[in-house]
Amino acid sequence: MKKKVLLTRKLHDFALKELRKYYDIEIHQGKIPMPKKTLFKKVKNKDGLICFPYDNIDNDILSAAKKLKTISTYSVGYDHIDVKYAKKQGISIGYTPEVLTDATADLCLALILDLLRRMTEGDRIIRKGGWTQIYGAYDYVGSDLSGKTLGILGFGRIGSAVAKRTKAFGMNVIYHSRHHLSKNKEKSLAVKYATYDQLFKKSDIVSIHVPYTKETHELVGLKTLKRMKKTSFIINTARGKIIKENDLIYALRNKIIAGAALDVFQNEPIGLNNPLTKMQNVVLSPHIGSSTAETRKKMAEITVINLKLGISGKKPLYFVNN
Ligand code: DGY
Repeated sequence: MKKKVLLTRKLHDFALKELRKYYDIEIHQGKIPMPKKTLFKKVKNKDGLICFPYDNIDNDILSAAKKLKTISTYSVGYDHIDVKYAKKQGISIGYTPEVLTDATADLCLALILDLLRRMTEGDRIIRKGGWTQIYGAYDYVGSDLSGKTLGILGFGRIGSAVAKRTKAFGMNVIYHSRHHLSKNKEKSLAVKYATYDQLFKKSDIVSIHVPYTKETHELVGLKTLKRMKKTSFIINTARGKIIKENDLIYALRNKIIAGAALDVFQNEPIGLNNPLTKMQNVVLSPHIGSSTAETRKKMAEITVINLKLGISGKKPLYFVNN
């Protein structure tokens, strides 16, 4: 008898083909995210679970999943899984770091460029027929990247990949993270450590790269935003709930900071009722950090490898260890 695997959403066809060779798979078809009640019912007789970063795999789900041996999430983030409880139940967790570092760092740079050069704003103006006079001295002026200080909050894989890219633009980089880099590493990356306060005070652009945890929940609120320069910008490609969104909206409306570029939000997906969608000094993207064809394919490959290893009682290739 084949082991049973539940997918909370369809993956690439090649991945499904591979999974079907070994397992009896069930793919959720209806509403996304899979409603909790349905997930609760369907996970009960499954040996493996493939999930996505918006599926809330909490202790209710995990305690219903009596047979579950492994969870393989199609994401680098695993804040949606109750890791402690899973560990207690002997359920391994696989995830997909490394392969999405470049794609996410690229998006971060794209957002910085877009925001500072007002590209999306200009696009919106043209599409509304608003570009009526050519080439004025003060028209649509943005900011140079060269010479600006980028503050990177969280200096893991993605934070340091962002730092590397900024060199091509002549930017200065400071970082704040739990761990100081060695002097040699700082020198080779041309980055300097800053305290949390210094980071927000000194930066022209702050980019968020910490994971979402209890400690980083709404870490960046009005108090922090008020420390920033009035001319500064904030970028978030990590998790929406790290920034207190209402405070950010207040800061943008009241010109406490100059602008924001956001790939992630407190409640996703956002709709037109979110005030951010009405602000000209804000660039928005629909949680696409890892969304390139190459990266998503690699993520699917790793998701399958992790699942196969985990279900057979082995350590997933990339496993969550805390
Ligand atoms: C992740 O992998 O956690 C990302 O947020 C998905 O793009």
